[in-house]
Amino acid sequence: MEKNKKNDKFIIAIDGPASSGKSTTAKELAKRLEYVYLDTGAMYRACGLEAYRQKISLDDIPKLTKMMQNIKVEIKYSLPNNIVLLNGEDVSLAIREPHIGKLASDISAIGLVRAGMTDLQRKLGENKGIVMDGRDIGTVVFPNAEYKFFMVADLDERAHRRFLEEQEKGSTKTFAEVKDELAQRDYNDSHRDIAPLKQAEDAILIDSTHLTISEQVEKIIELIGKRK
Ligand code: DC
Repeated sequence: MEKNKKNDKFIIAIDGPASSGKSTTAKELAKRLEYVYLDTGAMYRACGLEAYRQKISLDDIPKLTKMMQNIKVEIKYSLPNNIVLLNGEDVSLAIREPHIGKLASDISAIGLVRAGMTDLQRKLGENKGIVMDGRDIGTVVFPNAEYKFFMVADLDERAHRRFLEEQEKGSTKTFAEVKDELAQRDYNDSHRDIAPLKQAEDAILIDSTHLTISEQVEKIIELIGKRK
């Protein structure tokens, strides 16, 4: 990981599977470093929502191409969550509906969708001073990011976190259902042809299974401090 000499602000890439703790960690890190936080998953969720609203089947490439030519996804930085505008409408809550997670994963495997979102992410990151979380930030979007972390946690622990989150939102899914969905999503995200979820060779692995959020953040701050 190469340090940027002209600008002392960095790009920090945090990739990993669903519910591995990356977004909570990325937000806290952005707050502490006074960086902006970019949730790249939210961008794929917005694309999934648009296809859903337009009732476009994900194998209908001509319609998807047209959709991607006309779509406008904008991110307004704010904490704890980014505000996501889809063609000018605030969809920050709509993209969190549980069925949109699966749609986002499916639509994110399509090359033309990835190309559009990758371009946008690169533009948003060009001034650095940004913590981005996603699946392919350290491998594809910013392979030269100064700091790369790959966060993992045991499936049971991640399912437990997701189960509690969904219960808070009133979900009636069982733990086993939540666990199956997560396992399926991991499989989808790591087995697609383009920009699959995987650890960049130079990313530091952080296993959050037995760490609290503040321990995860402290660990990363310490690692950044050591390499500065
Ligand atoms: O982080 P999330 O669960 O909100 O992401 C939703 C989906 O978007 C995820 O299952 C895969 C896709 N995604 C991606 O392919 N690349 C990214 N950089 C971020 C998310």
